[in-house]
Amino acid sequence: RAAGSVADRVVHWQASHGRHSLPWQNTVDPYRVWLSEIMLQQTQVSAVLEYFPRFLNRFPDVASLAAAQQDEVLVLWAGLGYYSRARNLHKCAQQVVALHGGQFPGTAAELQTLPGIGRSTAAAIASFCYGERAAILDGNVKRVLTRVLGFDADLSVASNERALWDRATALLPLDDLAVAMPRYTQGLMDLGATICLARNPSCLLCPLREVCVGHRSGDPTRFPVKTKK
Ligand code: ADE
Repeated sequence: RAAGSVADRVVHWQASHGRHSLPWQNTVDPYRVWLSEIMLQQTQVSAVLEYFPRFLNRFPDVASLAAAQQDEVLVLWAGLGYYSRARNLHKCAQQVVALHGGQFPGTAAELQTLPGIGRSTAAAIASFCYGERAAILDGNVKRVLTRVLGFDADLSVASNERALWDRATALLPLDDLAVAMPRYTQGLMDLGATICLARNPSCLLCPLREVCVGHRSGDPTRFPVKTKK
């Protein structure tokens, strides 16, 4: 990784200023990382902190979850909302058992074929667990990257969204991936959650300030550009 590059800055900032003791960090068990990423998709960290250990206590591994009745999964999920996530979670566990011998697949491309796992979630799991060079692009990370890049094409247009995925992939760390990829992925999430806020970004504290087109433009909050939804 080139000194001063976006990847280098995010990786170093994550190590010193990012979050390190969330219960789904400090594990490379894809079951735990997958479960946390699904729970975190539309839900605050504070709520997931309460549900994640309870869920793991009842379903400690993918086999126990696959063997459960769907009703019991839904009962444990009750309160987290977006119940299609819980139905897909159960289906996904059953497919991991039936089609992958009870082991989560080892690449983002294969993870993405499973129910409830989209491109960004697949990349999060693969980067955290396997150090794979795969880009995440959830709502928070779209905000960070469109600002850094000054990416002002309308993201409600599919071809523009694809272009941002390509730009996100080009920014990924280039070496030392086993260490750099988990830090980089977590660092982008942490920046989006704590610094690069939608309304009031804390640019003074941001490790990307010196390279951020949005900051240089004087109004980072005009990114991302989205006409619909
Ligand atoms: N949101 C989505 N994934 C997350 C993670 N791994 N840590 C904190 N917040 C998240």
